[in-house]
Amino acid sequence: MQPIRTEISDTRFRDVLGHYCSGVAVITAIDGGEPVGFACQSFQALSLEPPMVTFAAARTSTTWPRIQGAGRFAANVLAEGQDALCRQFAVSGGDKFAGVDWRAGRTGSPLLTGALAWVDCEITDVLEGGDHVIVVGRVADLAADGRTGPLLFFRGRFGVLADGAC
Ligand SMILES: Cc1cc2nc3c(=O)[nH]c(=O)nc-3n(C[C@H](O)[C@H](O)[C@H](O)COP(=O)(O)O)c2cc1C
Repeated sequence: MQPIRTEISDTRFRDVLGHYCSGVAVITAIDGGEPVGFACQSFQALSLEPPMVTFAAARTSTTWPRIQGAGRFAANVLAEGQDALCRQFAVSGGDKFAGVDWRAGRTGSPLLTGALAWVDCEITDVLEGGDHVIVVGRVADLAADGRTGPLLFFRGRFGVLADGAC
């Protein structure tokens, strides 16, 4: 069968895929004794048995190679009201952890105070994904704090659940 190839502009791709509403996570790790992390929309559950999760990291990310070097990571699911925190982790360079409270999880990866949930993992696979890599992690520990609703991301903007449900 012939492969189907259509010219799809970056703008159209971003616009259409931006309609897929998601939560936002901050992926964290410890590299050289320092906490590192980046804001990540592509985090999701992958497998129940064994328990696995996945996220995609841009090849241009300066933080991803440090997380890969650590071999483990925590995915911190952000709560409503944490949009400023998300922006802080979405800017390359600088001290992303300035003013951020955290403690070490089971793998040693930073668990951010106030996160809605966290999933602490060991990296098992890194797969090709175009200009991203697909990272697969096996879950070592996890917990959720259901006291508040999630931070949502839709069409390039942050939002919260309309009825405040959690
Ligand atoms: C809401 C939101 C979601 C994002 N999701 C991803 C993602 O899934 N994968 C990714 O590589 N970058 C994602 N980014 C961009 C990274 O956070 C950003 O490029 C990164 O922090 C750059 O810093 P670094 O060079 O330290 O990696 C997202 C940014 C925002 C604001």
